[in-house]
Amino acid sequence: MTRTHRIAVIPGDGIGREVIPVGMRVLEAAAGRFGFVLEWQSFPWGSDHYLRCGSMMPADALDRLRPHDAIYLGAVGHPQIQDNVTLNGLLLPIRRGFDQYACVRPAVLYSGARSPLAGKKPGDIDVVVVRENTEGEYAQVGGHVHAGTAHEVAVQTAVFTRHGTERVMRFAFELARRRGKKRLVTSVTKSNAQGFSMAFWDRVFAEVAREYADVRTESLLVDAACMDMIRRPESFDVVVASNLFGDILTDITAMITGSLGLAPSANLDPSRRHPSMFEPIHGSAPDIAGQGVANPMAAVLAGAMMLEFLGEARAAAAVEAAVVTTLAEGRWLPRDLGGSAGTEQVAAAIEQGVSGGW
Ligand code: NAD
Ligand code: IPM
Ligand code: MN
Repeated sequence: MTRTHRIAVIPGDGIGREVIPVGMRVLEAAAGRFGFVLEWQSFPWGSDHYLRCGSMMPADALDRLRPHDAIYLGAVGHPQIQDNVTLNGLLLPIRRGFDQYACVRPAVLYSGARSPLAGKKPGDIDVVVVRENTEGEYAQVGGHVHAGTAHEVAVQTAVFTRHGTERVMRFAFELARRRGKKRLVTSVTKSNAQGFSMAFWDRVFAEVAREYADVRTESLLVDAACMDMIRRPESFDVVVASNLFGDILTDITAMITGSLGLAPSANLDPSRRHPSMFEPIHGSAPDIAGQGVANPMAAVLAGAMMLEFLGEARAAAAVEAAVVTTLAEGRWLPRDLGGSAGTEQVAAAIEQGVSGGW
């Protein structure tokens, strides 16, 4: 029987709607070449839905997504709606609700993608940030007192559980083992200032590390980690970080390997009880939305991560190879990578690469 994967698609807002159709096209080409079927179901949720119905997605959204094997998401965010409304109305409830606790964000300096860091050659940077994705600073625990008065108080509490902290760290160690490169896990902390949450994080890291004697470890304060990601990016392998620290660090890892337009992300529930979600790291980019110039490569690479997770390793490798070849060849580079090709030209080059068998 032909292998079939059911994919829920949420293009979302802004350039999400431009790059996700490209990803679908490229993945379809891979499905044709490697002999499996992708069954797409598209959900028109996001800011337009909010402006029409008062919510980013319907109340039963998670139930409607649940039967799918994976979710392919563009981006969410609209200049006229407060970001906290849009993101807490769509993206974050899916990550939490489906227990997608491991947010995996690889960053590789490919040939043809220039790093803004001087003297870095292709392959010099090859790091994966594993970001805790369900709790920490994003737990949405808090509230307001005396709202709107001069005595207004805002409280936002970070939540670190032993369960949540241990499992994301174990995931990072397992990944370092599987990658088999430097076999190094770097923990990102701030225990010099945050004596409860981050001191706990350090303690759990030391405990979990003992289970992986074959993997080396280091621990960096987050400010120093940002500096070292610029100063010595080649020395990193797997990095494990809390939700907020991982968010910030992965804009840096994206940029030092070329562009946000090239950086993919996988929100994994490794237990596979719920669908995992694949998306570019970038947002809806209202400054370029509708112009046909968005780089679709991050969305395509997120699609490759989805294929890999669905067990289509050869197809995933072919999709990644098509992006890598397009970059290296240099003829159809989008604007954010120093070229002048539009979304459609980049899409055609990658699609051709997948069907043509690069
Ligand atoms: P952004 O990632 O949308 O854009 C940052 C900069 O990078 C912009 O100059 C943009 O033009 C550029 N850029 C991003 N992706 C690109 C691509 N594929 N090709 C070429 N250039 C690209 O971040 P922002 O401007 O801080 O946020 C815009 C909106 O998106 C906000 O509403 C924010 O909350 C939201 N956001 C959503 C997600 C998500 O849904 N996953 C992620 C980040 C930001
Ligand atoms: C990301 C984004 C989101 C995050 C925002 C839009 C809530 O920046 O996926 O990196 O912080 O997780
Ligand atoms: Mn981010």
